[in-house]
Amino acid sequence: MSPSASPTTWLVSGTSRGIGFEIVKQLLESPNNLVLAGCRTPEKATALHGLKDGAKGTLHVIQLDVANVDSVRAVPKAIAPILGESGLDHLINNAGMGKEDTPLTLDPDVFIETVWTNTLGPALLTQACISFLDKGKEKKVINISSTLGSVASAHQFDHLGPGGAASYSISKAALNMFTYKLKLERPDLTAITMCPGWVKTDMGTQAADLEPAESVASILKVITSVTAADSGKYLSHKGTVIPW
Ligand SMILES: NC(=O)c1ccc[n+]([C@@H]2O[C@H](COP(=O)([O-])OP(=O)(O)OC[C@H]3O[C@@H](n4cnc5c(N)ncnc54)[C@H](OP(=O)(O)O)[C@@H]3O)[C@@H](O)[C@H]2O)c1
Repeated sequence: MSPSASPTTWLVSGTSRGIGFEIVKQLLESPNNLVLAGCRTPEKATALHGLKDGAKGTLHVIQLDVANVDSVRAVPKAIAPILGESGLDHLINNAGMGKEDTPLTLDPDVFIETVWTNTLGPALLTQACISFLDKGKEKKVINISSTLGSVASAHQFDHLGPGGAASYSISKAALNMFTYKLKLERPDLTAITMCPGWVKTDMGTQAADLEPAESVASILKVITSVTAADSGKYLSHKGTVIPW
């Protein structure tokens, strides 16, 4: 990037490990990218800080717990001096969690934690970033959802047991609706909800189909190719439409 050119800017949540970590890693391969990596416990995120070594792009690690309202509301103050006159081009709401449960066994505290992290967190982070997205060149909000949030696909997950991953699936279906409502409220944004595929991470387990590098390379291709005409879509990591 020439010194005068403004960078392409990204804020990604949940970057200490898994898919979020890999997104940051791949983004840093380009000198054009400035990445704000949100992380719950930066002092423990050794691998994330280590990505600065040999990075072509620019990395800033910021404290961000998406299930803590004060932490999310502190984001504008943290990112304003880093972004300066640049807006935010891409917000990737990636942080997520899930525990085993079913409709008839779900625990109220786990349900609230799951919906807070996977649905309310992305909503509040989008609110916190909106003035920066307004100034951005791309204005893209990418919500990392799951095919488990698809009512039409729910029967495909028999291996989870009847009704398995109930709180998680509900939280992702709600995230999908948040994405669609955001598209309706702000047609000038490109709001996409995406499934990364079944990926080998702590959440996906080593039994999963995809290496993080493969999933993330596809995700980034989709993110860079979508336009406002695609806003509101529910897409796989390959860019195919997932039925609601
Ligand atoms: N892996 C899959 O097969 C798969 C499939 C479909 C969808 N997804 C979705 O993809 C996203 C990433 O999943 P993953 O597989 O990478 O999961 P993962 O390996 O379990 O990593 C989860 C990441 O989210 C962070 N996180 C959790 N709660 C947080 C909070 N309250 N605030 C900030 N960060 C938080 C974790 O940080 P800590 O280290 O601090 O805990 C970690 O960095 C999630 O939204 C998940 O639902 C994954």
